[in-house]
Amino acid sequence: MDVEALLSWFYENRRDLPWRSDRTPYGTWISEAMLQQTRVTTVLDYYPRFLKHFPDPESLASASEDSVFKLWEGLGYYSRARNLMRGAKYICEHFDGALPSSPDLLLEIPGIGPYMAGAIASQAFQVASPAVDGNCIRIYCRLHALPLIPSEKSTYNEVYERVRKDIPSDNPGDFNEALMDFGSLVCTPKSPRCSTCPFATECSANLLGKQEDFPLKKPKKETPVEEHTILRIFVGKKILVRKRPDSGLLAGLYELIDMPGHLENHEVEAWVMENLLQGSKECSSEPDIRVLGTSKHVFSHLRWNMLGYEIILPADTTIAKNASQLGELVTMKKYDTLAFASAIRAYR
Ligand code: ADE
Repeated sequence: MDVEALLSWFYENRRDLPWRSDRTPYGTWISEAMLQQTRVTTVLDYYPRFLKHFPDPESLASASEDSVFKLWEGLGYYSRARNLMRGAKYICEHFDGALPSSPDLLLEIPGIGPYMAGAIASQAFQVASPAVDGNCIRIYCRLHALPLIPSEKSTYNEVYERVRKDIPSDNPGDFNEALMDFGSLVCTPKSPRCSTCPFATECSANLLGKQEDFPLKKPKKETPVEEHTILRIFVGKKILVRKRPDSGLLAGLYELIDMPGHLENHEVEAWVMENLLQGSKECSSEPDIRVLGTSKHVFSHLRWNMLGYEIILPADTTIAKNASQLGELVTMKKYDTLAFASAIRAYR
């Protein structure tokens, strides 16, 4: 990394942000906590308001949770606000109300992890400590065409080592913030602005013409597939339906009889004989079974491959006593009023 080129770019293009103009360790901590899951433009309003109400660790440590949450309202992820309160108490109890400058001591504070410890130590105390976040990983992976997956610990370690070697001891805070701004303004996740990038001629990903291929994307997990057999069973003009349990997938919705796996015609027939007709020889004719075909349904985490059958039994069929455990026979009028799982819409 050409550190001088990065810093020159930063001094010409850096964003004018409130936590930068009046830099304090406490303000740096609060801003980094707010920025962890939230966009810079949203934090711009929240940061000064929060600092006005709670200007130091002591005031935050003694605040009521309600008053802190109120100032956090709209930022989301309230665990961050709770952690700030816990952290403020810790700072008051263990560090006499002032944030320490050492990354190791900062890591003792509840809610402060390696990124935040590095960001506070470098920006507020000029300690040469890396602050490796997603921006930083993306920039280094592109610059050196590193075929790494961002979420992996080994990627973090690799990039951390590279940043540790690059970070200038006389200007670590600006270096870390330059990476943040550069990642937000130029080396963006999508459509990076390579034509204006000062590293265009040294960036390996750009030279390969594969900027967006670095870092590597995490392979998508295969969605599990389940096979179901759906039975549309008529007894005369009534149809057999059942209600799903009150919790879990499609909770409380109605469905048709649903069996695991794809059953063959003779298996469906055997199931009907056993469960509906109780093996009764009184049933004068074979049940009328027709294949309805296959259909698919994709849930967010699961796919169903379904095979449907229609079974038509005469109205005077004697249904086995225990068949009521399978569901209930309803008229078509009632059927039309029930809320069904849309997964089985092909068989309704
Ligand atoms: N994102 C996280 N920390 C930041 C900072 N100090 N400046 C800009 N964006 C950030």
